[in-house]
Amino acid sequence: MSKTTRKDIHLTRDPNPVFSFAVHDIAGRKIVKKGEQLTPQLLSEIRRTTPKPKPFIAVCKDVALWKDIHEAIHHPPYKELFRELQKEEELMGIMGETKLSPFVIQVLSYFKELDTYTYWHSLHVFVLTAYMSLQMLSWPQGKNLISVLGPLHDVGKIEVPIEVLRKETPITRDEGRCLRHHALAGAVLLSYYEGSENLSGSLVALDHHERRDGSGYPRGVPPSDFIVEIVALCDIYDALVSPRPYRNRPFDTRTALEVITKMVLEGKFSPEILQFLISLHRSDKPDYREVKFSTTFRGVPPEKNLYGTILEDLNS
Ligand SMILES: [Fe+2]
Ligand SMILES: [Fe+2]
Repeated sequence: MSKTTRKDIHLTRDPNPVFSFAVHDIAGRKIVKKGEQLTPQLLSEIRRTTPKPKPFIAVCKDVALWKDIHEAIHHPPYKELFRELQKEEELMGIMGETKLSPFVIQVLSYFKELDTYTYWHSLHVFVLTAYMSLQMLSWPQGKNLISVLGPLHDVGKIEVPIEVLRKETPITRDEGRCLRHHALAGAVLLSYYEGSENLSGSLVALDHHERRDGSGYPRGVPPSDFIVEIVALCDIYDALVSPRPYRNRPFDTRTALEVITKMVLEGKFSPEILQFLISLHRSDKPDYREVKFSTTFRGVPPEKNLYGTILEDLNS
């Protein structure tokens, strides 16, 4: 019996993939039809039809969201990682001043109500990308740019049925396709609701499952920007160390870093992002550029993990 993973199914190298599902706005009106092809022209046409974008809102002005971000920093393992953080005030400043569109805030509250995994995941990736931007990027625009991208990378999951997002048993092939649709859907929705205000947001949504060796989806091409890679790696880290419906426990941080190290060794990510993550896990917080990563793997993955398991393959 061969085990097909979500990655294998979409191993294509197509810069202009076809939409397997339609994309709708939050009122349910169709923006993109099933079978249409993603092209830069399509995205710029969508940007032109954008309903007059509403002003973006600073995160600290949304009381409930701001409270949850403070809470997200104290979830394991982040509480340990950010303990004695010398730049906590600066980090909170960056996150508080980050401006999100009303659309993204609306999607986050939808997840908070219906899919808490995706909600907290979006906030954890926000915290981690904001901290990385603080430490790795020195120019103010860089800080603002990268921190704004964390909370919105998965907005396209609003197009995935909640029962699929919360599924605890193996997914069907069709549900796998639907889950992967979130990358294209996110790029469309951010282009539609944010127009040209946040072009990087749309790019991050589109490319955050791409890998440098072309083994990702939906296009099977290397991520077009280093910033996308940072969000992509923070995305994987949080997906490993946080609770998920399809496995019995999260990965411990050591095993999670080993999984990411293997991906770096396979050429899927740039080593410096891993070096940064490792530095964050060390109590003396060394300069990440000096960090060497071990290639000895002794971590213990969760005993029960259905990630990537396709129902039809189990039954064949
Ligand atoms: Fe995603
Ligand atoms: Fe994600």
